[in-house]
Amino acid sequence: MCGIMGYVGPRDAAPIIIDGLKRLEYRGYDSAGVAVHDGTSLTVAKAEGKLGRLAAMLAEHPLVGSCGIGHTRWATHGAPNDRNAHPHTDPAGEIVVVHNGIIENFVALKENLAAGGADFSSETDTEVLAHLIAHEYQGDLLEAVRRAVGKAEGAYALVAMSRREPDRIVAVRMISPLVIGIGKGEMFLASDVPAILHHTRDIVVVENGEMVDITPDGWRIETLDGRPVDRAMLEITWSAEQAERGGYPHFMLKEIFEQPQAATDTLSGRLDEDGSLVLDKVDFPDGFGRDLDKIWITACGTALHAGHVGKVVFERLLRVPTEAAFAHELRYADPLIAPGSLTIAISQSGETADTLAAAGLAKNRGSRLLALTNVVGSTLSREADDILYTRAGPEIAVASTKAYLTMLIGEYLLALAIGRERRVIAAATDDELVRALRGIPVKIGEVLKTDQEVEAIAARFVGHDDVYFIGRGLDHAVAMEGSLKMKEISYIHSEAMPAGELKHGTLALVTAGTPVVVVLTQKEVYDKTVSAIQEVKARGALVIAVAYEDDTEIAKHADEVLRIPRVPDLLSPVLAIVPLQLLAYHVAVARGHDIDQPRNLAKSVTVE
Ligand code: F6R
Repeated sequence: MCGIMGYVGPRDAAPIIIDGLKRLEYRGYDSAGVAVHDGTSLTVAKAEGKLGRLAAMLAEHPLVGSCGIGHTRWATHGAPNDRNAHPHTDPAGEIVVVHNGIIENFVALKENLAAGGADFSSETDTEVLAHLIAHEYQGDLLEAVRRAVGKAEGAYALVAMSRREPDRIVAVRMISPLVIGIGKGEMFLASDVPAILHHTRDIVVVENGEMVDITPDGWRIETLDGRPVDRAMLEITWSAEQAERGGYPHFMLKEIFEQPQAATDTLSGRLDEDGSLVLDKVDFPDGFGRDLDKIWITACGTALHAGHVGKVVFERLLRVPTEAAFAHELRYADPLIAPGSLTIAISQSGETADTLAAAGLAKNRGSRLLALTNVVGSTLSREADDILYTRAGPEIAVASTKAYLTMLIGEYLLALAIGRERRVIAAATDDELVRALRGIPVKIGEVLKTDQEVEAIAARFVGHDDVYFIGRGLDHAVAMEGSLKMKEISYIHSEAMPAGELKHGTLALVTAGTPVVVVLTQKEVYDKTVSAIQEVKARGALVIAVAYEDDTEIAKHADEVLRIPRVPDLLSPVLAIVPLQLLAYHVAVARGHDIDQPRNLAKSVTVE
């Protein structure tokens, strides 16, 4: 996820673009840049780091020109640095582009262009687009962009300018969002409404597969195959603050609802329709996966909860003993980590001090280190031998949601990749998982439609001081994450445990009305978990179950049921967590808490 902003009109473009990018920093903030047309040539300024650095540079050396584009980046290809920051140009400086999203076939495109003698100055997929458009250019930017995007595959939004056409910006939306802002004698283009709301409330939403052509006095949309589109203007009534959260009251809810897109991005270009897998930064030596005899997973908090799912998935699919350990324990435990093992360090930020220390220790002991992280160029990613980026986009709310869900998807991809090398996954299971993974974003969307039901159930939690989350196996792993979400934002004491553990002590705390959330998706242990429901029901508990939509048994046992679509049991955590995120959210809202910045917590714990 990145932020894009464009302006064409009578005013100086750069300050308007910088102001717009500031309001899009929630979409990315590892580097930023602007390109401006001064009537004769294109000039680019860009800088690694937060937007403030670029703004300071431009304050000293202003860019003059009234047509421009800008970008604030959240890296997916290439480390966050000056070179990889957008905008990108072709070598002659004829075409300049910014882009948000992923060009899946950029390696093949780049090789083709390189074979024709092209030189690249960055590691990005974006630069390839600048080359392609320049290559296709015959005097009309719109046509050049059309031909270039005909060769590119992926989910992205692209905005381009040509040196030979001042006062014209052309853009394409292929899934990643884009809106046009209509002013008087001036036009704006942005990834999201907040960037332009200070200038105009008249907005046109660009739809998937459409091209945009803007000049100071007009806008035009057409389809990729050249058919004109008649699109009505919308008047936006949101406040600037509301707009930044996409109309959602909190970033956490916005991020929960972004999960279908985040899951799509995590899978994008990695799992083809035919089932082939490409994990570009995972490059095990020959035979490494085949001979692997131990996997260590280390992380903290939510990331470790993703690791608990990974442990079950790796052991089931790969038959490799796997341990998921708190990083802050592992680093002092003198663990039996040996060469030939794989250590997967999971961290949204890639900067958690304990996770870095545990990862470093594993590496020192000869383990191969793989980073499963959301932040390109983070310390963890720099120290790892292999990297799998989650591509969740920036997560603003302290309570992690979309980062967790994309970590899970990353683990399934890894398990499939290693399993294929070991030849241990039956073809039918492999097929079933591939199909189910490809369909998972849509199913996450279906779970999100139950939001109002979850909200109604949340009302039943509000006055309680203690809540329990139970499940077995993978359901227990999900229960741990559901419980953490509940405690960190609702401030209700919450504990998760394997369903079989209740009767060994905790059952003493279950009294009339105590809410017990039961996750119940694993066929082999279904009846056992139902027995645990009966134990708590006998003590008067209020039982809320998370179960498949076609489970006809559960309604006989639970007071309320949160339904998820059917998937292979191994994948159920990706769906089962979503109602639990919503539950925690609505309980916390009903209790009147600060959702995005819960007390005493920080987004990234960079001290021990
Ligand atoms: C909880 C949460 C934390 C983090 C933990 C690790 O919602 O976000 O538990 O998961 O602090 O952070 P990262 O993943 O950045 O290493």
